[in-house]
Amino acid sequence: MNICKNWTQWLLETRFASMTPEMRQQTLNWLQIVRDNILVRANIKPNQTIIDIGTGTGLLAFKVLEDLKGTGEIIFSDKFQDCLDNCENILKQNDVKSGYRLIQCPAENIPLEDNSIDTALMRSVLVHIKDKQTAINEIYRILKPKGHFCAFEPIIRSNTRYWELTSPEKIRNYEKFKQAENEFMTSEEDSLCNFDEYTLAKNFEDAGFTDGTVDCDVIPSNYTATDKMVEEWFATPPSPGMPTMKDRFLNYFDEETVCNYIEDVKKELNGKFISVNTRSVYINVIK
Ligand SMILES: C[S@@+](CC[C@H](N)C(=O)[O-])C[C@H]1O[C@@H](n2cnc3c(N)ncnc32)[C@H](O)[C@@H]1O
Repeated sequence: MNICKNWTQWLLETRFASMTPEMRQQTLNWLQIVRDNILVRANIKPNQTIIDIGTGTGLLAFKVLEDLKGTGEIIFSDKFQDCLDNCENILKQNDVKSGYRLIQCPAENIPLEDNSIDTALMRSVLVHIKDKQTAINEIYRILKPKGHFCAFEPIIRSNTRYWELTSPEKIRNYEKFKQAENEFMTSEEDSLCNFDEYTLAKNFEDAGFTDGTVDCDVIPSNYTATDKMVEEWFATPPSPGMPTMKDRFLNYFDEETVCNYIEDVKKELNGKFISVNTRSVYINVIK
């Protein structure tokens, strides 16, 4: 049983649970590419004040600290203290004493002055916030006029679904599971799935952003599935404390029916070469 106690553990361990060492390395390489794609859009200049909202293990903030070369300031912010403690330990171990601040706060309520930030950065944080408009309004409020909000978010509702990877004749209750998956993957109540590029564009407009781009990206991954991998897909929480895929199906079916389904998917996909699409957006909007 995979018990994930906090975000730091999720970021350092849990998210890699279903991956082979090669896939883990590919993911780490991909994260660097995503980071660089966000920072190219941000075009950070010396002496600016930058905030990384939902910094986690500091993927964006540590690179900004390096790029600012001792000028300006990077604010590491996160709703959860364990993330900030982990980043602070790394800063201390590397004897970094200035050029940064750590602020514990939710993105929906940031204790900073209006018009005080040059650029706000985020990677995969809005996806964990149910009320995205409130967070986006808050980001707009703290940005200086002409300030940028640059981010990357996965569009989970557009990803390949399990039923698309499997065949009706090999899966018990295929149609019912397809219907359930389609329903929870588009639920307004679920922060992971309640948005796409169009709803985000509307959120930005409603917040007051006047210009910018929301660019879509679709990354295909092709690999041979194993039954261990499939087991982890159903057992790994998408974030600490959130329901796993198995839990989500348990809202629709009893335990035995869900276990049968997982067994059928494992049996069908074990050793099969599969192709999975992951959709995401790069955001660069200007106040
Ligand atoms: C998927 S992780 C991304 C971490 C980091 N940005 C990265 O790219 O590696 C999501 C992060 O969002 C933070 N988070 C979740 N809800 C939040 C909220 N309402 N406000 C601010 N941060 C939040 C979590 O603590 C976690 O660090």
